Amino acid sequence: MAETPNATIAPAQGSTQEKPPVEMVNLTIDGKPVSVPKGTLVITAAFQAGADVPYFCHHPRLRPAGACRMCLVRIEKMAKIQTACTVPVAEGMVVDTISPEVKQAQNGILEFLLINHPLDCPICDRGGECPLQNMTYQYGPGVTRFIDEKRHFPKAVPISDYVVLDRERCIQCARCTRFTEEISGDGELAIENRGNAAIISPFTPEGFKSKFSGNTIELCPVGALTSRTYRFAARPWEFQSQDSVCSMCGVGCNIAVQTRNGEMMRVNARLNEDVNEEWTCDRGKFEQYWVNSLDRVKNPMIQRAGALGLTDWDEVLGVAAKTLKAAAAADPKSVAGLGSTRASNEDLYLFQRLMRGVLGTNNLDHRMFPFPIQPMQTSIAGIGQAKRIVAVGTQIDDDLPVLWLRVYKAISKGGAKYFRDDNARSRAVADAIAAGPDTVVLAWYALPPEDIQFLSDACAASGAKLNVLLPDCNSWGAITMGVLPDRLPAMQAVSDGARPKWETLWGGPIPAEPGLDTRGILEGCVSGAIKALYILGSDPVKSFPDPDLARRALEKVPFLIVQDLFLTETASYADVFFPACSFIEKDGSFTNIEGRVQTFKRAVQPRGKSKADWQIVAELMTRLGKPAPYFSPRDIAREIARATAP
Ligand code: SF4
Ligand code: SF4
Ligand code: FES
Repeated sequence: MAETPNATIAPAQGSTQEKPPVEMVNLTIDGKPVSVPKGTLVITAAFQAGADVPYFCHHPRLRPAGACRMCLVRIEKMAKIQTACTVPVAEGMVVDTISPEVKQAQNGILEFLLINHPLDCPICDRGGECPLQNMTYQYGPGVTRFIDEKRHFPKAVPISDYVVLDRERCIQCARCTRFTEEISGDGELAIENRGNAAIISPFTPEGFKSKFSGNTIELCPVGALTSRTYRFAARPWEFQSQDSVCSMCGVGCNIAVQTRNGEMMRVNARLNEDVNEEWTCDRGKFEQYWVNSLDRVKNPMIQRAGALGLTDWDEVLGVAAKTLKAAAAADPKSVAGLGSTRASNEDLYLFQRLMRGVLGTNNLDHRMFPFPIQPMQTSIAGIGQAKRIVAVGTQIDDDLPVLWLRVYKAISKGGAKYFRDDNARSRAVADAIAAGPDTVVLAWYALPPEDIQFLSDACAASGAKLNVLLPDCNSWGAITMGVLPDRLPAMQAVSDGARPKWETLWGGPIPAEPGLDTRGILEGCVSGAIKALYILGSDPVKSFPDPDLARRALEKVPFLIVQDLFLTETASYADVFFPACSFIEKDGSFTNIEGRVQTFKRAVQPRGKSKADWQIVAELMTRLGKPAPYFSPRDIAREIARATAP
């Protein structure tokens, strides 16, 4: 089910275009009158009338295929029984989905489909959530009349790093092939041969290389396409499912995190028409198992005799509070903080509140290099309606994969023209922008700032829309929460009249001058100006463009706190290490690239002694003499909503 954001921290930027009025058609289904938009398929109208038409190949986002024949219905004045998923409604149509004749036809199709289907249910990963299994219980014959040898193929053939194909189970519904043709646009799967010899195959010998292959597993109505990462890991009735938001890029796809015994078993897509419709990319579906990693740090650590050793929370928090307090008392500018684009809004809000409201410093950043901060000028859904799309400096299917599905939708369904160019000042880019308001420019945030400014000016002149795309799940949240040297939450400048409001709320003075950015902080560590650095979730040795400077800074700074899930190279320099929990172990919210705030819920308990980032920061605030009155991220979200309300 689509999620409704429950914390209004920032409104979604841009908006979905309004739909034009539609012509309605009236018909009768099983004696019930129903009115649906012109062009609706009979199967969809039947569902609206409450009828239960069985189906396999039908999918509302795919073109009708009429491949499985399961959805047979009787339509008055038509000579033969019809497939409800291929016939559009007509005025005055009378449809029957329940007569004995229709039921017999549906049962007959199911018996045909089962002729070659192996009796794999007990060992099939789809068992328990399999449409074929469910239909067989509901419509199928109790026994088979087919006593000959079934068709055989090699079983469980890996066709990609993530997907296994069992051709014996395939019912040739063509959902998977249509997905690759119509939704991802890579055409990676095809049906080879005809009739009884028909098989699903990757289109090229290299295998199923789609970046969206995992969606075919969810679409397959049988266990023919299954997941290599979930293979034999659990049964669907054994795990809990929790609503969450993908942590792997800035699109913010809505996902269900499915867990058993405290381990993440699987990620499935959740429906959100405005964000990911019902899709994920393979990175989101298959590459979040790091949350289960045995390398996760589960205990606080402290530097002793040149090495990090285990300790308890009392010691690390005590040492951190004492050292931060002394440094801030001597000179608040000698304290600095680096936040992360993967921590939640609530974590980040509290982190910057600690740095500003308790320690009195604006030496605070999350960016590894400065880039222009510009809200997107269309929504994600709006990109699917563009007429011309230009990607500058980004390979969208790599950088923000599910955003590519919107681009491809605009191309395939709306006839949009699309190209990518690494040169922001090329003639082709200039011509597309000059074409006016129907053009959407997707510019990667890491382009040279002057190129982004150039695109911004050109778009402003022609009315084209510029979307500067940020990379991570909470890149935009880190900005709106004020993890910046010169901006408070809600992007209010530290130097302007908004500051006193925050000073009152946080109970302490906030410096009016902007602080140091990441480079300034690292250079300050090297020069000796920064005496205490608190890094929450960031890994400058890996991400800062000059890793040598990062290493020298971390080595030199007298006191370093690192809060993370793993012992990164950055963490190896820490004086104290705070083990944090992953997004599936806490509640919170991320703000996606379009400014949409989406909440996620705890799916499993934190690992070992790890804690949510916001909780660690709150405990540190308490030890610094400024107790943080928060019992949950919801309390923090309420404070943010109240404080940033217009
Ligand atoms: Fe349909 Fe699955 Fe066969 Fe693809 S592999 S055609 S989705 S049954
Ligand atoms: Fe996750 Fe991004 Fe992929 Fe969506 S597009 S599933 S947010 S990595
Ligand atoms: Fe109608 Fe397959 S669902 S033919």
